[in-house]
Amino acid sequence: MSYQRTVISEKELEEQKRIMAEVAERNASLPEKPLALVDTYGCQQNEADSEKLRGMLLEMGYGLTQDEAEADVIVMNTCAVREHAEQRVYGNVGALTHTKKAKPTQKIAVCGCMAQQKSVADRLKASYRHVDMVFGPHALWRFPEFLRKVLFEGGRVFEITPSDGAIAEGIPASRDGRVKAWLSVMYGCNNFCTYCIVPYVRGRERSRLPEDIIKEAHGLIDAGYKDITLLGQNVNSYGRDLGLGVDFSDILSEISAIPGDFRLRFMTSHPKDATEKLFRTMAGSDKIAKHIHLPFQSGSSRVLKAMNRSYDRERYLSLVKLARDYMPDIVLTSDVIVGFPGETEEDFLETMSLVESVRFDALFTFIYSKRPGTPAASYPDPATREEKQDRFDRLIALQNSVSEEKHKAYIGKTERVLIDGEDNGLLTSRTDGGRLVRLEGDNSLIGSFRNVRITGSNTWALSGELI
Ligand code: SAH
Ligand code: SF4
Ligand code: F3S
Repeated sequence: MSYQRTVISEKELEEQKRIMAEVAERNASLPEKPLALVDTYGCQQNEADSEKLRGMLLEMGYGLTQDEAEADVIVMNTCAVREHAEQRVYGNVGALTHTKKAKPTQKIAVCGCMAQQKSVADRLKASYRHVDMVFGPHALWRFPEFLRKVLFEGGRVFEITPSDGAIAEGIPASRDGRVKAWLSVMYGCNNFCTYCIVPYVRGRERSRLPEDIIKEAHGLIDAGYKDITLLGQNVNSYGRDLGLGVDFSDILSEISAIPGDFRLRFMTSHPKDATEKLFRTMAGSDKIAKHIHLPFQSGSSRVLKAMNRSYDRERYLSLVKLARDYMPDIVLTSDVIVGFPGETEEDFLETMSLVESVRFDALFTFIYSKRPGTPAASYPDPATREEKQDRFDRLIALQNSVSEEKHKAYIGKTERVLIDGEDNGLLTSRTDGGRLVRLEGDNSLIGSFRNVRITGSNTWALSGELI
C-alpha cells in the first residue's frame, strides 16, 4: 500500500511559531499572566495531543490552571468513540456558558475527534454560541493561528476540512509528568472496523520517520523519563506506508538499544498484524515490558467477520499461545465489545469462553455504541438494552474473578516496579506488566525502579513493601 505522505512543511510550521511569538508578546503586556486549561477525553493519542496543546499554550505565554473559572483559554480535546463520551462533552461545554458569562473575555475551543465530525461542528456552531474555536485533529498544529484570530480579530473559527491527515513534526509538547511519556509512532487508522469512528476522524495510517522517533526517544531518555509508551491505533502496521523496510519490531529494537534505565511499552496492537518477530523482539529485550494489549473485541468468529476485524477466534487464540511460548509470564490485556448488532446469546457465550480460556490480566469492556456514519450503524440490532446490560454484567463478573485470582497469585512474589507517583498518602508504582502496586515510602523515590514484595491484592490493584 502506498500513497502520498503529507508532511507539514517547515515553512508552515515556522509561520505558526511566528504567530506564537506574536501572541506571547501580547500576553506579556497584560497586567497578569493569562491562564489556560486543557481538558482531555478519550485515549492516549488524545493525551499526547493535549501535551502539544499545552506546549503551544506555554510558548504563547499562558500559565496552566485546572480551574475553569479563572482560565482565559479553555480547550476541550474530545473523543468520539462512544456516544457516552460525546454526551459528557456536550454537558461540560454547555456548563461553560456560566464561566464565560462571568468572564466574557474567555476563549473556548472544542477540538479532537468529536469536533472533526461535521454534525458535531454544525451543532456547536448553531447551539453553543459561546464556543469560539472548533477544529479537528488534522488542524491541531494550526491552533496558534486560530487563537490569534479570535484574540486579535474576534469572530469564530471552524476548521474541520476532511483530510487523510498529515504529519507535523516539531510542535512543542508540555509533558504531564517526569516519569512516564507518550511517544506517537504513527497516526490514523486504515482498518475500518465496522463499529468504529476513529478512521473517519483521524484519517489514514501514516508513520513518522524512524529517525524522528529515535531522536524523540533519545530526548526523553536524556530528560530522565523512565516509562515510554509508543502510541498508534495499530502499531503493528507501523512503517508500511514508508516503504523503508522498517517495521515496528525494528523501532522497538532500536529504542531499547539506547543506553539508560527505562521501560518501553506500546499500544495498541491489532491481532491481524501481530507477528512472531514482535514476540521474539519483546522476549529478547529486558527493557521492553512483558505486556501486550491485544484487543479481541469478540470471541465469535461470525461477529468478528461482521466487525471486519480480519482474524477469527482460532487465529486470536493461536497468537496468545505464541506470545506465551516466547514469554510465559506475559501480562495480557484486551478490549471487548458486548452487544454488537446481531450478537446472539450463542455469540456472547463464545466471548465468555474466550475470556475463560485466555485468562486476561485485565479487560476493558464496552457495550456497543452506535456511531452514525459507520457501517454497523445500519445493521439490524434486535437485542434489547437489558439483554446487552445482562451480558455485560456477566462478562464483568467473570473477568473480576479472573483478575482477582491472577492478582492473588502475586502475593509473596518480588516484583521490580517503577514508582511513578503518589495517591492518598501511598506511593503508586507499576510492575513490568503494568499492574498497579501501592506501597508506603518517601516521595523522593518517585521516578526510581525498586524491588517490592507483594503483600496484598484486590480485583484491580496490588499492595506491597519495599525490600
Ligand atoms: N485501535 C484500537 C482501538 C481504539 S478504540 C484497536 O483496534 O484495538 C478503543 C476501544 O474502544 C476498541 O478496542 C473497542 O473495544 C472500543 N470501541 C470502539 N468503537 C466502539 C463502539 N462503537 N462501541 C463500543 N465500543 C467501541
Ligand atoms: Fe477503530 Fe478498528 Fe482502527 Fe482500532 S483498528 S481504531 S477499532 S477501526
Ligand atoms: Fe477517542 Fe479519538 Fe482516541 S475517538 S478513543 S480520542 S482516537
